Amino acid sequence: MKFFIDTANLQQIKEAQDLGVLDGVTTNPSLMAKEGITGEPNIINHYKAICDIVDGDVSAEVISTDFDNIVREGEALAKLNDKIVVKVPMIKEGVKAIKHFSSQGIKTNCTLVFSSGQALLAAKAGATYVSPFIGRLDDVSTDGLGLIEDIRLIYDNYNYETQILAASIRHVTHIIECAKIGADVMTGPLSAILGLLKHPLTDNGLAQFLADHAKAAGK
Ligand code: G3P
Repeated sequence: MKFFIDTANLQQIKEAQDLGVLDGVTTNPSLMAKEGITGEPNIINHYKAICDIVDGDVSAEVISTDFDNIVREGEALAKLNDKIVVKVPMIKEGVKAIKHFSSQGIKTNCTLVFSSGQALLAAKAGATYVSPFIGRLDDVSTDGLGLIEDIRLIYDNYNYETQILAASIRHVTHIIECAKIGADVMTGPLSAILGLLKHPLTDNGLAQFLADHAKAAGK
């Protein structure tokens, strides 16, 4: 399972990269705005800075909603670095653009996916990744993990190569359940990734080992 970090914060991206388990980064316009990144030159420079840190795919989202401008924006983003994956919303014009990018060999991430029908369309258009938002489905009392299961079944039925990128991950249990289902990728905050480290028995056990060692050494 690939681990992507879902942030535009360079410090957090560095911390995850330094841990040695990072496979990529996803961003979106809200995450860029949260870091105060506005205006085209700053946005472009920020994507370049992210690409310099991470070994792996970096999703950069278009903000256009019509085919011509999605293509124009996406092609410019893809030229920045081979790591860039053009993130395109699941709308009619977006599906057409994904098909176009796919024929040009440009990697895509179809975002804002909330149903298996949308995921089926993304795969048929040739998306590299599909991003079902499981946390946001849970927020409205819908089974986000159930959607990952359904998409896995559908994609396996037809051997679609589109990778399931479980997005809107909120906590450790989401990551574990996605791994059990067989999501190809998960993208989540640094807190969820670091949360995988934690177990009280690990902390207690280590404290005991160190105390016993110190006692035996006469410290
Ligand atoms: O990048 C898209 C997705 O991961 C957003 O997550 O937490 O804003 O629902 P969230």
